[in-house]
This record gives sequence, C-alpha cells and structure tokens, in this order.
Amino acid sequence: MRINQHYYRTIWCDDPAAGVNIIDQTCLPFEFRIATLNSMRDAYAAISTMQVRGAPLVGATAAYGLALALRDEPAEATLAQASAVLATARPTAVNLRWALQRLQTTLAPLPVLERAVSAFQLAAAICDEDVAQCAAIGEHGLALIKAVAAKKPGEAVNILTHCNAGWLATVDWGTALAPIYKAQEAAIPIHVWVDETRPRNQGAYLTAYELGQNKVPHTVIVDNAGGHLMQHGLVDMCFVGTDRTTRSGDVCNKIGTYLKALAAYDNDVPFYVCAPSPSIDFSIDDGLREIPIEQRGVEEVSHVLGRAADGQRSSVAILPAGSAVRNDAFDVTPAKYISALVTERGVVQAERTALSALFPERC
Ligand code: MRU
Repeated sequence: MRINQHYYRTIWCDDPAAGVNIIDQTCLPFEFRIATLNSMRDAYAAISTMQVRGAPLVGATAAYGLALALRDEPAEATLAQASAVLATARPTAVNLRWALQRLQTTLAPLPVLERAVSAFQLAAAICDEDVAQCAAIGEHGLALIKAVAAKKPGEAVNILTHCNAGWLATVDWGTALAPIYKAQEAAIPIHVWVDETRPRNQGAYLTAYELGQNKVPHTVIVDNAGGHLMQHGLVDMCFVGTDRTTRSGDVCNKIGTYLKALAAYDNDVPFYVCAPSPSIDFSIDDGLREIPIEQRGVEEVSHVLGRAADGQRSSVAILPAGSAVRNDAFDVTPAKYISALVTERGVVQAERTALSALFPERC
C-alpha cells in the first residue's frame, strides 16, 4: 500500500545483520515512523506494546523474532527457548503460535548453524504468503461487493468495519479491507463506516489513516452508532477480520465485533469475516470456552491519546479517580451470526463441514 505515494509493506528485512524494519503503529496517525527490531527482545516488545498488531502481522513479526534469536544465539536450545518466550507476547491471535510452530518444524532437523539463515528465509516466505492470501481474500470479497453494487447502480456501497483489519494489520492489503481496496481498483463506488474501536481506537487511528492515504471515502463513527445506522438502511454489508476462528466457525475478534454481528443479524445486513487460513485454529471448536481472551492494561480505558492544537501528543485521563476498570481486548461471535467467512480459497459457510472441505490438509 502507499503512504505519501511511497509503497510500503508493514514489515521487511533487507539484511538480517541490520535487523527487521516495521512501521511503528503506536505513532499513527500522528507520525509515520519506521522502527528497527534488532533482537528477539525487540520483536517481543513490538508485539506486546502493539507497535505491530493485527493477527497476521503479529505472526510475521514472531517469525522474524525467532530468526533474530537464532542469528544472535546459534545454540541447540535457542529454537525452543525463544519460541516459548515469543509465544507469550500476546495470547489471542492464533497466527503467533502458527508461525512459531511452522518455523520450529522446519528448522529443528537442520544443523544449528544453518537455522538462522533458513529462519529469515521462512519469515520472508510467511510475509509473501500473507500478501498473496490477503490479495485472494480481496478478490473473493470483491465478488460480494459487486453483487451488492449491482442492486444499487450509481450509488455507493456502504460497508461497515470494526477495528483495523487493513493493510496495517497484515503485511499488505489487509483482510477485511482487501475487498474494499479491490473494489476501489475496480472503480465500484464505496463508502466505509469506520468504528472508532475504543479503547485503543484502531479504527479511528489506523483504519481511517490507511483509507485516507489510499483515498477511500470513509466516515468515522463512535462504536455505538453501527446498530442505529443499520436500522436506517445505511449499511449494506459488514467486513471484519479475525484473530482466531475455530473449526466450527466461531470468530474471535476485537472487542465489540459481537455486538456489531448481533445488530447486523437483527437488520438482515450481511456480516462477513475475512479469515486467512493461518487465523483459523483447526484444533478447537468452541470459541467461547477455548479461546484465551487477552486482558490489557487499564490505562487503555482510563486514558485517551490525542494531539493538542499545538501539535503535541498527549494522553489524558477521562475517568473519576477510584473507578474500577476492566479491559477485555477481544470477544467471540458465534458462527450462527456470521453470513460467511471469506478465506483465500473462497467464501465459505462458518461451519465445520464446509471449512474442513476447503482446508482438508489442516483437519
Ligand atoms: O488488538 P489488535 O489491534 O491486534 O486487534 C486486531 C484485530 O482484532 C483485527 O481485527 C484482527 O487481528 C484481524 S487483522 C487482519
């Protein structure tokens, strides 16, 4: 995707000796800053502090984190030890575990001194595959948008999205935003309702930023507005991402996704979840009971970060002293509220038999 006319991926490595580059998402939308990860600890910190975030990008960063560990400490024990550390950086997105397991399986049979080079190659391959998967999701989602556009010629298709499941959450294209970028390329008139997504405001800070940079018409709304807009016929379809989807089609995604799905269900608005296969956990069924929900710091709720008129960034307190705070970062939308999953292999019912037929090698 383009930022100020310059093409970027969200993570890249030109030279393993020089580290791994990321776009520091904690600075957006106020400042575009590139950071360099020079060690496994840097990668761990980047994931846990959300300099990088979004399930596919978390997986790609963990892969590079393991490669950095093997570069710096070429010992037999490093593969298992560094994987164990990186696996704890964030608990919910299954891509983290998926990427680390993939590296471990491939690297374990290799001589210790060959592991680092192969790890960097594999991390780069994971990034390239993510780009291809997201582009394919974009094409499959585009067909869904085209079908809606055909019913309202000359009018924009109104799409609601939650959190940031765009280019910034992946290596390129995004999951939920990929169909939107593909629609823009196909000159289909679209307009995106962007949920601000408290407490960390990934919608307001990141989705609005990348849509703006790529000139996609959009409007930021408060998290509670979506249901109201649906009741008034102002939302044609919803596209969201996922941090972990179970083999029976339950979807864990950013907190608030469930309420949007309920509102969509009540208003007959199609609710699509864009799910690349590394975000599907084929080892579990029940999203509500089996997916660990990340609890994040209370300051994300008690404070809001913004930029004052003088251009200075600051974090301001918004709660009375002494109020208790709880900060669940994700929720689970049961499969019955999901119109379909959009995967790199096509659009599929959020249901075990259909998912197994599409990904037989994962079952
Ligand atoms: O806490 P975050 O910002 O990492 O949460 C991100 C989301 O919930 C995304 O919707 C999800 O990872 C899908 S990203 C393509």
